[in-house]
Amino acid sequence: MDEKIIKGLISKAAEMRKVSYTPYSKFNVGAALLAKNGKIYTGCNIENASYSATNCAERTAFFKAVSENVKEFSAIAIVGGHADAEELDFCFPCGVCRQVMSEFCDDDFKIIIAKSEDIYKIYTLPELLPERFGPKDIFG
Ligand code: THU
Repeated sequence: MDEKIIKGLISKAAEMRKVSYTPYSKFNVGAALLAKNGKIYTGCNIENASYSATNCAERTAFFKAVSENVKEFSAIAIVGGHADAEELDFCFPCGVCRQVMSEFCDDDFKIIIAKSEDIYKIYTLPELLPERFGPKDIFG
């Protein structure tokens, strides 16, 4: 992947942490999802007093895109950590978000986990969700 695109996605994901709604965990996550049509859909985590109704940053980004009838994606950048953290750690997507990625993404979908624009790791979807259950299991 082009480094400029990677840095751009990380920058947008980091920006989204500022609007995370996290009164309970104060763990702010931002995501920037690159669609195959070139558009970028951003997301933040949105918590809920019930806890279980919380939505992760990654799913917010996916659901924003799909609700605009965009369903093909090439990459997502994820930046997360405690709101007060001086330095971020790598924030990996939860299992539910990996499953949502599996619904819409091919094996070459890239998951960029970043501490900053310069410190990041890139994984493919099968690396983070091996032997995944997806649409192919239903439709063949
Ligand atoms: N969270 C995300 O938004 N994405 C992840 O990949 C991991 C966890 C959120 C959910 C919750 O608001 C907070 O982080 C703590 O679990």
